[in-house]
Amino acid sequence: MRIRDILSADYIGKEVTLRGWVYRLRKQKGNTFVLLRDDRGSVIQCVFPSTRIDNITRESSVEISGIVKEDARAPEGGIEISGTDLKIFQVSDKDYPLGEYQSAELLLDYRHLALRTRKMIEIAKIRASIFKFLRQWFSDNEWMEVTPPLIVKGSVEGGSTLFKLNYFGDVAFLSQSAQLYLEAMIFSLGPVWSLTSSFRAERSRTIRHLAEFSHLECESPWVTLPDLLQIQENLVRYTIDKTIKERKDSLKFLEIDTNRFRGLAEPFHKITYDQAIEKLISLDFKMAEDDGKSRMIRWGDDLNIDSERELTRQMLTPLFITGYPTEVKPFYVKENPVRFGTSLTFDLLGPQGYGEVSSGGMREDHLPTLSSRIKQAGLNPVDYGWYLDLRKYGSVEHGGFGMGIERLLRWFLGIEDIKDSVLFPRTMSRSSP
Ligand code: 4AD
Ligand code: MG
Repeated sequence: MRIRDILSADYIGKEVTLRGWVYRLRKQKGNTFVLLRDDRGSVIQCVFPSTRIDNITRESSVEISGIVKEDARAPEGGIEISGTDLKIFQVSDKDYPLGEYQSAELLLDYRHLALRTRKMIEIAKIRASIFKFLRQWFSDNEWMEVTPPLIVKGSVEGGSTLFKLNYFGDVAFLSQSAQLYLEAMIFSLGPVWSLTSSFRAERSRTIRHLAEFSHLECESPWVTLPDLLQIQENLVRYTIDKTIKERKDSLKFLEIDTNRFRGLAEPFHKITYDQAIEKLISLDFKMAEDDGKSRMIRWGDDLNIDSERELTRQMLTPLFITGYPTEVKPFYVKENPVRFGTSLTFDLLGPQGYGEVSSGGMREDHLPTLSSRIKQAGLNPVDYGWYLDLRKYGSVEHGGFGMGIERLLRWFLGIEDIKDSVLFPRTMSRSSP
């Protein structure tokens, strides 16, 4: 039996038995109040005569039997259990390192235990729903789920963030993106999608970069850039709408004001990169330079977190930016045939300053162009031989995108530091627990 069942149906006066852990413990002279947490993270207050449970400690694993009672003072739903029996599986060591208030660093050091805190439990539930509804959307719309390899030979998103592996004496890398493999699959499987870990050796400590993140990617033959924007928009709206409905209680616990999502019902905003730069210039936006100085932003600059924040600060609806300079994007992007120097690409930015959530666009499908781009990027064409084959044997127009789930969660839940959107964060300084 689970606590949720007891809270959601009429069990008053009935005897129940629950298994779980002692989440909080308050001993008084006469009675001891045990806040029991079950294996789905719900809690309920159980009251015992203090003499009955002398040796119990926080996080002890127990089985509690008792009568369900109404009591307005009970912390969860005005319902508590008047304990009649207590079986102990294990008395937890007295030195449980996490108290009620802890520094963020300590919670990260003890993440394996911090997963038992209400905040992490509710975030984990919301993550699970996001995954469930993303999968549901793709399934309902007849995209096929595929599983690309994560050990690869070439870079997709630039050499500076590659994790190098000793692969039986040879060099290989951890995948930065499944994109090139998804591109290979569309010729026989049609629209495909995958959800994998992607790896980036991000050397800077930021509140939106992880070394390992959950990457949702999709790719389809015969799509256009406007199609991709629509697919991305439908996917995000569906997933968030469904998650809000399924996880009302979790959002309430995390004190998320669902009014923040009002703007999602509207078509997402769309501007071109050119318009974004004009807007930033009109706002007198300055780029920080490496030497500590700053200068006015200009055409050709990539958009960074500061400029993205500036553009979306006042918005409640996500923003698409299309047509980035080809130079600031990787080797595979398709150049805009009617506006040389710009590419058929987009980024989706979360509103209210949260910044980039996904990147995508059309792919270069012309063999000589792609081949020279690979060389220009300083990559070894040998490693991309198989990828170039895709442009030799029945090349078609195609495109797709990749969305970081932690970036989506960061915006959705208004999380400051991306580390809080994942259970075991991997960063430059943290590969354990
Ligand atoms: O913008 P990125 O680098 O694009 C690609 O990898 C494409 N090949 C995807 C594709 O078209 N199939 O990464 C895609 C998204 C970003 O928009 C961001 O949400 C997330 O992945 N991302 C990260 N999330 C957390 N930590 C990092 N270090 C991230 N790097 C990228
Ligand atoms: Mg990007």
